[in-house]
Amino acid sequence: MARLSDLIREQASHPQGSGTLPRQAAASSSQADRSWITSTRQEILRIKEAICSNKVPDIKNCAIYAEQIVQLLHHSEDLVGWALNGQADNYLVDNALHVATLATKVGIGLHYREHDLERLALAALLHDVGMWTVSEGLVSKRGVLSEEEREIIRTHPERGRRILAGQGAVFEWVAGVSAQEHERWDGSGYPCRLKSTQIEEAAQIIGIVDTFDAMVTTRPYRHSISPHQAIRELLLHGRTTFSLPVLKAIGDQITLYPIGTVVRLNTGETVTVTKINSRYIVEVLEGRAAS
Ligand SMILES: [Fe+2]
Repeated sequence: MARLSDLIREQASHPQGSGTLPRQAAASSSQADRSWITSTRQEILRIKEAICSNKVPDIKNCAIYAEQIVQLLHHSEDLVGWALNGQADNYLVDNALHVATLATKVGIGLHYREHDLERLALAALLHDVGMWTVSEGLVSKRGVLSEEEREIIRTHPERGRRILAGQGAVFEWVAGVSAQEHERWDGSGYPCRLKSTQIEEAAQIIGIVDTFDAMVTTRPYRHSISPHQAIRELLLHGRTTFSLPVLKAIGDQITLYPIGTVVRLNTGETVTVTKINSRYIVEVLEGRAAS
């Protein structure tokens, strides 16, 4: 099957764009991770600035970054650790990178094929472009939103859909996923109160991962909770709002023992988690001390 970026290059009226981006295959894992974070952040910022200036954003390069995140996560868990650190200089920009990382990780857990992982990563990167049509003051407002303000926020999935749907055939599906990201399994979401399988699975994954990222990232109007607490909250209270397979996948794929957590093993040793593998269990431990 053709790669996502090749399909987009074929449909693009200005095909020189994505071909100029550097590939990272030769870089070490951590160098490649850092390069992906820097380049993708710049790309998302560029898209944000275009939308804020009422220009049509050029989003096709995002396909390259979507392909890269899939490859990076096949080789290392380090980006997952980065996405769990609760840091965000610019919430909506970093949220796009966090959600792309964690949604791809969940897709890997659900055994998605390569092409589907790339599409999921692309939709995750672009899931909230509609929010950039909402004023910054409202996005980061402290305190309770009025009903009118809430209604404005609720328009962002449709605004995002319109931005993405104008970008050609490959982005039609991405646009649909963006429009459904806030729909919930039990019909309690917005804007269309869709239920269960009416919601694209990619939108379900992005929706739960986006909720998780909001819980673990400090915002001007509330403190964050730890990834461990967030997963517990979702598993305890998300059983009606999210589908069980997706809920199980996030629990399986996003460690309950994040880096830095001190845990006691059943051998009696107390250790610090320094690296995570594809299950919950620590792979490398340090700071051993007799308990
Ligand atoms: Fe959103």
